[in-house]
Amino acid sequence: MKSRRTLLAAATLAVALTTGMTVALTPAAGAGTTLKAAAAEKGRYFGAAVAVNKLSTSAYTTILNREFNSVVAENEMKWSSTEPQQNTFTYSSGDRLVSHAQANGMSVRGHTLLWHAQQPGWAQGMSGSALRSAMINHVTQVATHYRGKIYAWDVVNEAFADGGSGGRRDSNMQRTGNDWIEAAFRAARAADPGAKLCYNDYNTDGINAKSTGIYNMVRDFKSRGVPIDCVGFQSHLGTSLASDYQANLQRFADLGVDVQITELDVMTGGNQANIYGAVTRACLAVSRCTGITTWGVRDCDSWRGSDNALLFDCNGNKKAAYTAVLDALNGGSTPPTTPPPGSGVDTSAWYVLLNRNSGKALDLYASATNDGARISQWSRNNGVNQQWQFVDSGSGYYRVKSRHSSKVLDVSGFSTADGGAIVQWSDLNGTNQQFRIANSADGYVRLINRNSSKAVEVQGASTADGGNIVQYADWGGTNQQWQLVRIG
Ligand code: XIL
Repeated sequence: MKSRRTLLAAATLAVALTTGMTVALTPAAGAGTTLKAAAAEKGRYFGAAVAVNKLSTSAYTTILNREFNSVVAENEMKWSSTEPQQNTFTYSSGDRLVSHAQANGMSVRGHTLLWHAQQPGWAQGMSGSALRSAMINHVTQVATHYRGKIYAWDVVNEAFADGGSGGRRDSNMQRTGNDWIEAAFRAARAADPGAKLCYNDYNTDGINAKSTGIYNMVRDFKSRGVPIDCVGFQSHLGTSLASDYQANLQRFADLGVDVQITELDVMTGGNQANIYGAVTRACLAVSRCTGITTWGVRDCDSWRGSDNALLFDCNGNKKAAYTAVLDALNGGSTPPTTPPPGSGVDTSAWYVLLNRNSGKALDLYASATNDGARISQWSRNNGVNQQWQFVDSGSGYYRVKSRHSSKVLDVSGFSTADGGAIVQWSDLNGTNQQFRIANSADGYVRLINRNSSKAVEVQGASTADGGNIVQYADWGGTNQQWQLVRIG
């Protein structure tokens, strides 16, 4: 990897030396345009929890296959699914997911061998040594079935109590004896020596009593040679993130285990994109954080109902949270600041948009009124063809409406290509007409299109009147930065 990177860097430098100013428009070397590509550049995977029956829905699999290179079964590998009757195993749904993963170059997380929830009825009624035997048999059978196909198993899920005790959660399994967790890990290792074996839990998003209880268990396991390779942090998050989130990951990594973000979803609201970005940056900052999984694909796939907690909306559009994750994976220029992007805009005002590189204003060329008319830059004159209003489209996106024509900025033909023309068009509130306001330094912002995720820029960093306005990969150049000057 290292030598390939060095070669790439050398090649980029050579291009820079020979091509002069065009290099200024080239996105940073190694920037990925999908979650999986950007994560892979950083040596990480990017995964999603999959409801296996949705693999028949093409709108779903299109996103899954384009953006993700790791999957985990949302429910289909749990005890109640794989062993509904004692010693009768059903693997068809889990197998279907594994096949899909193998056909599409995705790794598989196994979730989960033992958990107090979603046990089959027959196990719920058991106790003592009969239950212990059934638990270990379950671990052995399922891990053996999937042997060689699983990157990491959540061997045990959610065995610690919430609150301040730092102790174990009471459950039928816990009542079989405190050593049940290590017994499960030893059985899993024997059944599938190639899989990484993880302990997975929630409410462990900072240094607190619960995460410290788990930390002490992992340290004990490592000191006694109990096989454990990784700790999963579910990260079902609300509207804020513990300030020691990264430090908590790091202290586990320092014990000699990998860490992974295993079930990430974040409450909707003004902070959602910021939190997604911060979690991503925390993982990247911890060298043993090997990947991130979101608990679902689109908002409507989420177990969190109306929380709209995921990276894609119900129509499959990329949300601001998606861009925050992608930016972070790509080395994230400036971390999003508080207040979140866009919150400073007044939708009742009229603005002139001044380009940082040229100092010229965003201008409806020749004051045209037709659909498809081009957008240019021009020396600022505050004319109505240089005045724009932000019309709220929800989820942090806005149309940008001309005072002269009442038409809105539009990426022509839903282009997703670099250089795609920005024109005006009748306001249809299409995703190619919606822009997110991303903060750059010094009060400048970038306008990121919802459909293409590309930024509005002055083509070729022109400084001339009439310079063309296009979209281009968001790399933070000064020709992609705009100052919003309120004039009405
Ligand atoms: C959830 C699934 O998403 C739901 O479909 C199911 O009804 C309940 O379980 N922690 C976990 C996951 O480890 O297995 C849970 O998944 C969410 C919380």
